[in-house]
Amino acid sequence: MDLYEYQARELFGAHGVPVLDGIVVTTPEEAEAAATELLEGGADLVVVKAQVKTGGRGKAGGVKLARSATEARDRAADILGLDIKGHTVRTLLIAAGADIAEEYYFSILLDRSNRQQLALCSREGGMEIETLAVERPDALVRLPLDPDRGIDEGVAAEILALAGFDDLRTDAIVPVLERLWETYRDEDATLVEVNPMVATTSGEILALDGKITLDDNAAFRHPDHAALVDTASEDPREALAKAAGLNYVRLEGQVGIIGNGAGLVMSTLDVVALAGEDLGIAPANFLDIGGGASAEVMAKGLEVVLGDDQVRSVLVNVFGGITAGDQVAKGIVGALELLGDAATKPLVVRLDGNRMEEGRRILAEADHPLVHMANTMDGAARLAADLATSDDPATTSAAARA
Ligand SMILES: Nc1ncnc2c1ncn2[C@@H]1O[C@H](COP(=O)(O)OP(=O)(O)OP(=O)(O)O)[C@@H](O)[C@H]1O
Ligand SMILES: [Mg+2]
Repeated sequence: MDLYEYQARELFGAHGVPVLDGIVVTTPEEAEAAATELLEGGADLVVVKAQVKTGGRGKAGGVKLARSATEARDRAADILGLDIKGHTVRTLLIAAGADIAEEYYFSILLDRSNRQQLALCSREGGMEIETLAVERPDALVRLPLDPDRGIDEGVAAEILALAGFDDLRTDAIVPVLERLWETYRDEDATLVEVNPMVATTSGEILALDGKITLDDNAAFRHPDHAALVDTASEDPREALAKAAGLNYVRLEGQVGIIGNGAGLVMSTLDVVALAGEDLGIAPANFLDIGGGASAEVMAKGLEVVLGDDQVRSVLVNVFGGITAGDQVAKGIVGALELLGDAATKPLVVRLDGNRMEEGRRILAEADHPLVHMANTMDGAARLAADLATSDDPATTSAAARA
């Protein structure tokens, strides 16, 4: 999970990384009040910053300085509603302004291909770090980290020496790097980036911008991280699936896919993509109901997929193992009963493995007009793709069945 800058700053603050005061607002009036508070608190200027989960905000006009509260209000009005790389700005951070002498770059990230943590550091931070990395890679120091040691005083000094910092700056920055490592380690992050980290004219080191990515696999040991989830901009179907413990990813196509086991679901996506290739039909989602899924879980999965407007047909592909075929069939029948008239999309069901005969019998007995049985995976994929192309899949399916 990627965090907003204001959330990253909160975690920085909690771990002793120096940040300036900031106030989160959503209207120009709130921006004016926040700026008044910061200016009266001693700030010489404030910065109005778009809160969107993408880089390059400054260049897109999403970061503006203001010297008075009314100016902050006007800049907030300019920035709110702005589209930055497909992200609409709805939230702003009004931050106290820093008196910047120098801008640096520092990050810690998980380097998956080399199976290690990596620290990146440059004396030339600011907005052009991507260009710097490409054009003058020497100016960006990369130091692999020993995960047990992380960044202690010695490692921090080594990084800063490699990056060419003098002794005075090194002494000031070392403790900040140690705190950033603690943030990375203790929060189970996969990325902590500060761009820019600045030295002020009085020699103080500050994190002026922050990006943190948290490792979702470690969420179980951070109950407090749940509060950082941005439910407002989360896809409602992904939220529903997550709440039900389903492994769901929404895609762009028309055929909803439900299966048990990630491998089976992945290959189902492949056969549907192939079957639909010439028809302009593609998978609408990945949904793994998992091994040992119950009827209730099946019902929840169908609810998620059938509720998606882009879905025109659904392929349920289950290989009965721990999840027995009859349980799956009961789940389908139960879900259709529950949905009633709301279920308007044809379902192609392919059941195999443990108790599949029983499952097929249950579906045959229920004799639901939307349900089609298929014996092979390829056949199921072709049928689901065909059904997704018809103008009114529900009627066509009923007609095809009759
Ligand atoms: N609190 C502040 N005081 C003074 N100047 C600031 C402050 N915050 C940001 N700036 C200036 O604005 C520039 C851009 O800010 P910031 O790094 O937050 O956004 P960005 O880098 O454009 O966004 P992103 O990191 O998403 O690409 C900084 O390099 C810095 O010069
Ligand atoms: Mg930045």
